[in-house]
Amino acid sequence: MGLFTGKKGIIMGVVNEFSIAAGIAKTLHAEGATLGLSHLPDKDGRDRMAKRVQRVSDPLDVTFIKPCDVTLDGDIQRFFEEVKEHFGSIDFLVHSIAFAPLDDIRCPTLEATREGFKVAMDISVYSFIAVAREASKLMAPGSSIVTLSYFGGEKVIGGYNLMGVCKSALEMSTRYLAHDLGPRHIRVNAVSSGPIRTMAASAVGDFSDMLGLNAAVAPMGRNVSSEEVGKAAAYLLSDLSSATTGEILHVDCGYHIMGSPGHAIKRLTENPASAH
Ligand SMILES: NC(=O)c1ccc[n+]([C@@H]2O[C@H](COP(=O)([O-])OP(=O)(O)OC[C@H]3O[C@@H](n4cnc5c(N)ncnc54)[C@H](O)[C@@H]3O)[C@@H](O)[C@H]2O)c1
Repeated sequence: MGLFTGKKGIIMGVVNEFSIAAGIAKTLHAEGATLGLSHLPDKDGRDRMAKRVQRVSDPLDVTFIKPCDVTLDGDIQRFFEEVKEHFGSIDFLVHSIAFAPLDDIRCPTLEATREGFKVAMDISVYSFIAVAREASKLMAPGSSIVTLSYFGGEKVIGGYNLMGVCKSALEMSTRYLAHDLGPRHIRVNAVSSGPIRTMAASAVGDFSDMLGLNAAVAPMGRNVSSEEVGKAAAYLLSDLSSATTGEILHVDCGYHIMGSPGHAIKRLTENPASAH
């Protein structure tokens, strides 16, 4: 019997096998969860997105896979109506979605445009509020919601730029949603993951340097995997975290505790190639 035997929920944000959401899906499936997935709709009417997602979902016995563009209220409402029809109620929701226009994240924050800011905040922050609202209508007391954040929302990380501003707002939204949904005994938390090579991460300039630096500075001397993020998400989505809400759980091999380079200078001197 797994931690999620008899539980069902939705994971939003799988685009391919490298997605953090795919790592979470794998972990929850292994613990017995019944999963439904959403994906970004194809603009050209072809089924490329659905097919990509199917490579992840097939081994996990997922039968509910529907498109949902989180910039559209109508799409979100239609999606959760379909969730209700298929599942009745749900026990958990994972929001693993972010986007910023390339020109607005690759430039200094000082140069970000009003339009780029609005798009980034809409998709990376407001969407969390919007999907939490709809999902919570299908949730009983004891249910749980998790989103994905990054340390660049707490401290300045060169190259993360506008997305850092979004993550800061996302983390505060997590706390306010936890406040709103607490009386209904629905918990809301975030996993702050260390850097992982994914499609979204490729938008961040100097990402290889970020990986190298993170591994060098982190007390554990390495980076995290999406499966490890999956295990932390499983804790927050399960009854094991029954008294935890509004929490930002760091899964970054300890990087966030550091106030100095720590072991990095020694590590990088001994193995300079590991910096990239
Ligand atoms: N990869 C990292 O290093 C890292 C670290 C910490 C946090 N995160 C966060 O994890 C989450 C997942 O990102 P990932 O790294 O797995 O990358 P990913 O590219 O696999 O996932 C991003 C997802 O956002 C979806 N998305 C974008 N715009 C959308 C829209 N309008 N409607 C619906 N879906 C939309 C994409 O389709 C994709 O599934 C993001 O919030 C990201 O900021 C990533």
